[in-house]
Amino acid sequence: MTAPTETAPDRRHAPPEFPAGFRWGAATAAFQVEGALDADGRTPSVWDTFTAVPGRVDNGDRADLAVDHYRRYRDDVALMAQLGLNTYRFSVSWPRVQPDGRGAANPKGLDFYSRLVDELLANGIEPMLTLYHWDHPQVLQDAGGWANRDMTERFADYASLVAARLGDRVPLWVTLNEPWCTAFLGHASGIHAPGVADDATTLTVAHHLNLAHGLGVQALRAALPGTAQVSIALNPAPVRTPVDTPENQDAVRRADALRNRIFLDPLLRGQYPADLIADTAHITDWGFVRDGDLATATAPIDVLGVNYYTPLYVAAGPGPADPYNRWVGSDGLVHIAPADGPSTIHGVVDAAALRELLNRIRHDYGPVPIVIAENGVASPDIVGPDGRVDDAGRVAYLHAHLAALHDAITDGVDVRGYVMWSLIDNFEWVYGYSQRFGLIHVDRDTQRRTVKDSGHWFRQVIAANAIPPLDPPAAG
Ligand code: NOJ
Repeated sequence: MTAPTETAPDRRHAPPEFPAGFRWGAATAAFQVEGALDADGRTPSVWDTFTAVPGRVDNGDRADLAVDHYRRYRDDVALMAQLGLNTYRFSVSWPRVQPDGRGAANPKGLDFYSRLVDELLANGIEPMLTLYHWDHPQVLQDAGGWANRDMTERFADYASLVAARLGDRVPLWVTLNEPWCTAFLGHASGIHAPGVADDATTLTVAHHLNLAHGLGVQALRAALPGTAQVSIALNPAPVRTPVDTPENQDAVRRADALRNRIFLDPLLRGQYPADLIADTAHITDWGFVRDGDLATATAPIDVLGVNYYTPLYVAAGPGPADPYNRWVGSDGLVHIAPADGPSTIHGVVDAAALRELLNRIRHDYGPVPIVIAENGVASPDIVGPDGRVDDAGRVAYLHAHLAALHDAITDGVDVRGYVMWSLIDNFEWVYGYSQRFGLIHVDRDTQRRTVKDSGHWFRQVIAANAIPPLDPPAAG
């Protein structure tokens, strides 16, 4: 062994660094931030309809104003620049750019996103565009929505329209966000739009989403320059059980099929898991999968978006229904909330599970490049008398998850970026404005923005391309 030379840098205490060119971003979605629901020719979306029903959203909150991003986008981009973001993930509102769900685009709707993209680029921020973050035109729902196979063609047409207008400036495209939520929350438990609760429909919808993704990839490839990258944002989760019995292991297998493999397998293997088809045979014969569909669904992507919040805990046996997890085809399955540890609206906080999840994807599906497309936590943030928003809990959360991510990269997982949820407090679906996920606080009465402590901390991460200590030594 040779002794270290005097000039060799001592890396023992250096903060963990991320690979050169790592993307650092924050995310939002159109319905959650834009407001302006009837501006410039936008028609109602399925979420406009859903949130208008009394009792569906906490506090009766509505997204009519949201955080007024449609009008304030320039100020918001200036804040992104202040944070040092090099990536901004946003979604396009389908009813804004194609109000009838078919046919010609609405130029005014596309103009908004064109201005947003230009503003981002002028500030050195790469746009990461999600085509579908759950808010399709109500007129398409009236024709059956995702339960109708025609919706897959509608989605591909819509993708073509957006790509034709923005393809010259947007380097990273995400087809669908969290199709699990659309299929299972929207059509099994019915707690998301369109509020359907029907097991067979859920599986049909899941397949149509997989197919729509593939058709969307084809449409994007046809319209985009060769340098553009195409992705999808899934929300896979490690599945665990409290007691390791054969029955509980089977519960894990079933839950893993319904949450993870129903999307990952068609996407990355071009097939549905045989055990999923067997588990659900009493509900459907899967006749909605036609010849060629799986070849379409598995069209190569450039990067896989992973949204991670929490692992799942399941066990076999009868138990109370869980509104967030209706186990289609597996009635003897219960969701178990772990008794200890910090938890959020999504469940237990478990950063190590992120490393486990990423290694599992690499192990089971090969070395697909990954971007963390969402990760974050809600907390009841307030602006203090000193004007600061002290969200130390979120800083600790980010620190732990970035450390786990860095470990996964050290393990050999090809992670290209980390996009935090969310840039800014916003309309958290059925929780309305009660859950604040942002790096930026929004005063609900004045719309005043304040960068939280976590935003300042994240700026240091980005500037260093490394994880700074939680309590940096005082300057001087
Ligand atoms: C999942 C969704 O993509 C996003 O819209 C939501 O606000 C966050 N995660 C937090 O729940």
